[in-house]
Amino acid sequence: MRVGVDYYPEHWDKSLWAADADLMKRTGVKLVRMAEFAWCRLEPRDGVFDFSWLDEAVALFADRGIDVVLCTPVSCPPLWLYEKHPEIVHVEKDGTPTRLGIRSHRCVTNPVFLQYADRITIEMAKHYAGNAAVVGWQIDNELEAYFCYCGHCIDRYRTWLQEKYGCLENLNRAYGNVVWSGEYSSWAQVTPPFGTLPHAWQNPAYMLDYYRFCSDNVIDFSNRQAAQLRQYCPGRPVTTNVWFCEHMPDFYKQFDGLDFISYDNYPATRLPSDPESCYSHAFHLDMMRGVKRQPFWIMEQLSGGKGCWAPMEKPPLPGMIRGYALQAFAHGADTVVHFRWRTANIGAEMHWHGLLDHSNVPGRRFREFADMCIEANALEKLQGTEIKADVAILFAFDNEYAFRIQPQTDGYYYMEQLQRLHRAFMGLGLNVDIIGQHEKLDGYRIVCAPEMYVTDAGVVERLNEFAMKGGTVILTTRSGVKDPNNNALMTLLPGPYQEMAGVHAVEYAPIGWEAVSVLFGDGTELQAKQWCDILETDTAEVLASYNGDYYCGAPAITRNACGQGQVYYIGTVGTQPVYDRVAGMAAEKAALPVVAGLPPRVEIVTRTGREASAKFIFNNDDQPKSFVMDGQEISLAPFEMKVVLI
Ligand code: GAL
Repeated sequence: MRVGVDYYPEHWDKSLWAADADLMKRTGVKLVRMAEFAWCRLEPRDGVFDFSWLDEAVALFADRGIDVVLCTPVSCPPLWLYEKHPEIVHVEKDGTPTRLGIRSHRCVTNPVFLQYADRITIEMAKHYAGNAAVVGWQIDNELEAYFCYCGHCIDRYRTWLQEKYGCLENLNRAYGNVVWSGEYSSWAQVTPPFGTLPHAWQNPAYMLDYYRFCSDNVIDFSNRQAAQLRQYCPGRPVTTNVWFCEHMPDFYKQFDGLDFISYDNYPATRLPSDPESCYSHAFHLDMMRGVKRQPFWIMEQLSGGKGCWAPMEKPPLPGMIRGYALQAFAHGADTVVHFRWRTANIGAEMHWHGLLDHSNVPGRRFREFADMCIEANALEKLQGTEIKADVAILFAFDNEYAFRIQPQTDGYYYMEQLQRLHRAFMGLGLNVDIIGQHEKLDGYRIVCAPEMYVTDAGVVERLNEFAMKGGTVILTTRSGVKDPNNNALMTLLPGPYQEMAGVHAVEYAPIGWEAVSVLFGDGTELQAKQWCDILETDTAEVLASYNGDYYCGAPAITRNACGQGQVYYIGTVGTQPVYDRVAGMAAEKAALPVVAGLPPRVEIVTRTGREASAKFIFNNDDQPKSFVMDGQEISLAPFEMKVVLI
């Protein structure tokens, strides 16, 4: 399990480079990532390339046995390029070109930008093709599904729609454009959602396509870069680093075209006092592993206090640097690259702290990092071990987009139920996969399909088949609501899932921040919020009913026998104990090997291999924990990770 660091030689006087590389070597760093923002130094003038400084840096690392990942520096075009071609900038929703000053302000479809981006990428790729120290490439930096309103993006959007719908009649029908006299009579009338009105005020069918288009647009760009890197620097795996942002590209499609996934991981340094909070990054890590269903990298890992984009936050508490890095390894990362080696003394990010502070004097965080490197390197024997999960949670970008477009009720957001189910099953000591909704379900025992809002007929069929053959499916509210165009289905909810769930809703109550309690058969009363499907059962049994409001006594949570399997339906948004309880019931019925009595915030991941297997037991809390597992008392200090070989 390899540890790396993000390094910016262009930020430092050369006199520091060798000392940095020596210290990295002594510390056990095996990889550096460089150059994602260095275009102005790599091509200081139009068509004049200078790789000499980067060659020197690469050589310094190579001499010390440290591998290098280089980035295409296309996130930050140099000012000479903007000066020559001011039209390459991203255009805002009010139609004004972005003002310069920060970064990522280029439009990734602009043909002039692409010409320059191609050229620097190809030049770099050719230059490093023969350099064995360069072991991989990162494209750009944190690509997002940008909403750009420039003329090129508008043209591409129209072409995208023409390819999808063929003619305006089809498009008008798909979007229901008759509403508010929105029917297009010429392609020229089709534009992105200009203006600052909330997206919920726009036509949801149109908006969902627009989100999909923006995702495809940026994916085209990353595929274009990948093709160039592969052609001119063959044999090096290509990735791009992603994060959970407001406009995420569809990771499943994006990484189809790339060799491995990498993710920027910045867990919380201040733990929320609310015990309900799902702050653990275990969810994100499992989701990253699920994107390609293979090991992934962390390309940027928390190393110091965050700042600069907002006022400074508390630094990582003692134990966090080690614990969070090992947590990433536990969940399937095989490389963790820390952001950044040293805190910048210059530029806007000088308050986003690295492993070393401005002083360059190694301190508490660096010492912890150094200890972690020794440990990570010793875990080499676990390289290649698998995380086999009985439980999967389905994720869909169509749902992520559709819920952003039309917020359902105050406080309701898509990820919450996924995160709660994830936390509930992890709380039983089980491995959990988070996978794209189109993945095969073979091998799982329990599949959670929360909020299957935008319906995909193939997915409905696969879930039904999975249950019929003996699997357990957990469905939740807001499923089967929309057709693939994001128009409402004319059906009782949960739409096409009714039969397998054995239940239908006669009404629903979006209750926002109001609370309602649900009463289980054994008299346990738990709290729910945001949404209440008022259910009637067809063939399902009632597990819990509402205990309040005008629907008091109506079923809230049900279970149905479906073929040889079981389908749970959670018709409300529960607080965490609701999901804990349903997960407990489902796991017990499926006879899964749960760990009973795990204290809150303790996470276990089991990795298995032919030669070695291990349990990673992590206390993701600032309080010590102890519990008994397999007859043995396990005690964990705050943020301690124990790796127990089994
Ligand atoms: C990441 C980004 C880095 C750096 C870091 C700290 O999102 O990729 O370049 O900005 O955040 O702010």
